[in-house]
Amino acid sequence: MATPSSTTDPVGRFLSRRRDWSANNVVGFMMKQAVDHPECISLAAGLVDPQTLPIEATSRAVERMLSDPTLARAGLQYETTEGAQRLRDLLLEYLAGLEGVTADAVGLKIDRDQLVLSTGSQQMLALLCEATLDPGDICLIADPTYYVMLGTVNGQGARAVPIESDADGMRIDSLERTLAALDAEGQLQRVKMIYVVSDFDNPRSVSLATDRRRRLVEIVTELSGQQRILIVEDAAYRELYYDGVSRPSVWSFDEEGETVALVQTFSKCFSPGLRVGFGILPRDLVGPVLDLKGNQDFGSTSFSQHLLATVLEDGLFASHVDHLRDAYVVKRDALTEAAAVHLGDVEGVEWLVPDGGLYVWLTVPEHVDAGFDGALFNRAVQQEQVMYVPGDLCHIGVDGVRPRNQLRLSFGVENSERLADGMARLARAIRAEL
Ligand SMILES: Cc1ncc(COP(=O)(O)O)c(C=O)c1O
Repeated sequence: MATPSSTTDPVGRFLSRRRDWSANNVVGFMMKQAVDHPECISLAAGLVDPQTLPIEATSRAVERMLSDPTLARAGLQYETTEGAQRLRDLLLEYLAGLEGVTADAVGLKIDRDQLVLSTGSQQMLALLCEATLDPGDICLIADPTYYVMLGTVNGQGARAVPIESDADGMRIDSLERTLAALDAEGQLQRVKMIYVVSDFDNPRSVSLATDRRRRLVEIVTELSGQQRILIVEDAAYRELYYDGVSRPSVWSFDEEGETVALVQTFSKCFSPGLRVGFGILPRDLVGPVLDLKGNQDFGSTSFSQHLLATVLEDGLFASHVDHLRDAYVVKRDALTEAAAVHLGDVEGVEWLVPDGGLYVWLTVPEHVDAGFDGALFNRAVQQEQVMYVPGDLCHIGVDGVRPRNQLRLSFGVENSERLADGMARLARAIRAEL
């Protein structure tokens, strides 16, 4: 028999409050949509391109790993909670390459212990939330955002507060206004975290402008006498730049190394199946994060860690990323060119052509309801057999109100022909709703 759940009275409850805070998980719902409608062309799935998954590089690395008894045993044994030292050393070099500095304490300005491996970057994001957020605490987030992180923040009983963003990412004026308003309400002490996807974010593929990166760190550093706030920089799409240049990380502006946690992953640029992510943490957060991780798994999959280390050691990574970029540009063009053909003349329909990442953010006129239970989604799925992610899922919302006239389209999974076809179908559905 189901027990009525109450979030106020813990007596007699079976499920925890943390479970309540994680109820109605959007990811599960999204996955179910895909399973329930296998006939659809998916402009929704956030998976990476199946055709460019690194089968050849992985099998070469596995072969070398398993033919070397030392490596084979390392990969088949438990690892430490912080992860294989071999991979962590290689990742410091990798990071130094991205940052354009030397891979030592002088160039990177960190101790090597500050690099902690995780099961995908999602685990590191969750661990950072667990380590810093109590129920009622506040995380400021550039809106719209990666909706899984919203679930992670809410799952702590914490509150996500939206910061406006534009084509250059999180707006600094909106951040300053929000901090001042929270201060005036006596809520500044509850602000523990600012979350920002710095490069080609999810859902819009927009990047934070370099001057805003610098200013963000300055603002938080200036506040630190009053209130310590952790900036969590999620750089999941960092490697996937197509036309533009890569920007310095937000983390690189953190001179003292106390303000920013940089979180990265090999899911988008190599293989999500390996589930290898990592964080560069402020020194005093390393212990707390490892304590929490110890309770969860006392170490991520060692096989994946040693496999990725072998891939990096054997020089199999860089060429793969080059190949990926070339392949994704073609797919991005297929989707956005089809948008121009089928929707170019429709007033009120706009989209951003991304210079990196995996997503195209499409806006339709306000009277078109693109939400899951709205007419457009229904028509797209049932009649046109094409699926997208309703943009309202990616919004935090103010007083429960979220814009419902936006769509996140992904060019990750489908090939160019199906992307173009999917766009043509979606355009038909949109025109029918206008
Ligand atoms: C912005 C962003 N951050 C983090 C992740 C988590 O990826 P993973 O756990 O595979 O590293 C994703 C996955 O889609 C993402 O889009």
